[in-house]
Amino acid sequence: PSSPRAPERKEYLFKVLVIGELGVGKTSIIKRYVHQLFSQHYRATIGVDFALKVINWDSSTLVRLQLWDIAALQLKRAQLLLYINVNNTQMVHSIQSAITFALSTTGQERFGNMTRVYYKEAVGAFVVFDVTRGSTFEAITKWKSDLDSKVFLPSGGPIPAVLLANKCDQKKENSLQSPHQMDNFCKENGFAAWFETSAKDNMNIDEAARCLVENILANA
Ligand code: GTP
Ligand code: MG
Repeated sequence: PSSPRAPERKEYLFKVLVIGELGVGKTSIIKRYVHQLFSQHYRATIGVDFALKVINWDSSTLVRLQLWDIAALQLKRAQLLLYINVNNTQMVHSIQSAITFALSTTGQERFGNMTRVYYKEAVGAFVVFDVTRGSTFEAITKWKSDLDSKVFLPSGGPIPAVLLANKCDQKKENSLQSPHQMDNFCKENGFAAWFETSAKDNMNIDEAARCLVENILANA
């Protein structure tokens, strides 16, 4: 007598990038998503950090997301080690501006050669901006084109990317973009979708991840 066949179980490992300007909340989003934690303290990521999220997608599918938390600071020449631990948002922003200025005057290229190495074999990306700082939204197109010029699906197409409008808990009345404008922005710039997120209040992070995984699975 033959034993009943076990239902086929699929397992995937997906490399997912998390990119965006300094201090927009990339590390916080990952920490919230993977460890259910949030901290007001800011410590800039140097190089790259990793986290793994295991998702029981459905009864026959297991998805492992390997999240690559990529520092906005890519130091090429200067061996600058940065450790910032403050809880005053205003102070964080002035320190970020100072660093951005210092790097721009020392010939630091924002998108150095390292991103190519980090992006290798990624199958999806979150591109993050901070709703309280318009300059981080203006930088989104740069991050997206950096991404699309350096990583491709086996088919040759761009990898799915989801846009995250983070820190929505601090959103002001007259926000940067209307939902309609954001929809158009996504269409024009090849984002699968956008979500208003808050790592602080745990808003929409699971939803955004589910959306990205759906898009990745469609290519798998
Ligand atoms: P780099 O590693 O320097 O590129 O920064 P990052 O994008 O990883 O930002 P990080 O997660 O370190 O967050 C920067 C600051 O913003 C920290 O002080 C966080 O506590 C704060 N922050 C992150 N997400 C949120 C959020 O959703 N709401 C609020 N109010 N603050 C947030
Ligand atoms: Mg970080």
